[in-house]
Amino acid sequence: MESPQRGPQFRSPLSAPALSSVSLEASGPVPGWHDRLEMFPDGEHLSAAVADALLDQLLLPPARPLGLATGRTMVAVYGALRQRIAALAATERARLLAGWRSFNLDEYVGLPRHDPRSFAAEMEARLIAPLGLAAERLALPDGLAADPHAEAERYSAALRAAGGIGLQLLGLGNNGHVGFNEPPCEASQRCHVVELDAATRAQNAAAFGGDPEAVPRRAITLGLAEILAAEQILLVVSGGAKAPILKRLLQEPPNAQLPASWLQHHPRLRLMVDRAALAG
Ligand code: GLP
Repeated sequence: MESPQRGPQFRSPLSAPALSSVSLEASGPVPGWHDRLEMFPDGEHLSAAVADALLDQLLLPPARPLGLATGRTMVAVYGALRQRIAALAATERARLLAGWRSFNLDEYVGLPRHDPRSFAAEMEARLIAPLGLAAERLALPDGLAADPHAEAERYSAALRAAGGIGLQLLGLGNNGHVGFNEPPCEASQRCHVVELDAATRAQNAAAFGGDPEAVPRRAITLGLAEILAAEQILLVVSGGAKAPILKRLLQEPPNAQLPASWLQHHPRLRLMVDRAALAG
């Protein structure tokens, strides 16, 4: 039997199986993730827990803005969040929607808001249209800005003026990126224009007819500096395809080759995963 100090502290909110049932136990200590790892039985339970945390934050005015992410992991999260908002009493729902303020992590350079492959269009489809939100309450970098570098600075300044992020929602790229912070990447980097990795363009090709070459080469992303300045971070990892990178994340100290590893020492971080993501 391992001593409790050797593996990650493990909370089991939904009667999830003990960590001893997954191969990570053999991996040795992961001190940076001590007491931060929460495993859920499947993607549905995971999404429900993440949506609960988002709703709590949205019901807590006057909060700093939410930091929102896109990607497949967030599709179920936003679905669960929509359900929760729909179930609120009408006055509470109206107050929540009127007070909504969020900043997305990133946007492709070169795609206009109305392009269905843009992250702006994704937010429109998942949250703005179904909830009846005012689009200007959900900020994203402008992918069509004439000078993307100036746009990155403007976006960073707008976030600073809004007080910084309250709760930051994050997915995990197959290469360890968060937002579009590709390796190698330093923790001090602010919002910037990034050249996307071949791995990232392959990961996101589905939205571009399956062709990685059709995925834009550049994006504007919040940096680790803005992400780490959030009051609280939820890093959400779902599905067996993420098992190899999650395993690395749990084993490596903070380093530039694994951007998500910089999150390890954030004082209020929850690493929320499903069983498939841990089972690699
Ligand atoms: C994308 C996004 C990230 C996202 C991550 C994981 O490229 N820029 O914000 O969280 O990669 O995506 P997915 O949930 O589709 O695996």
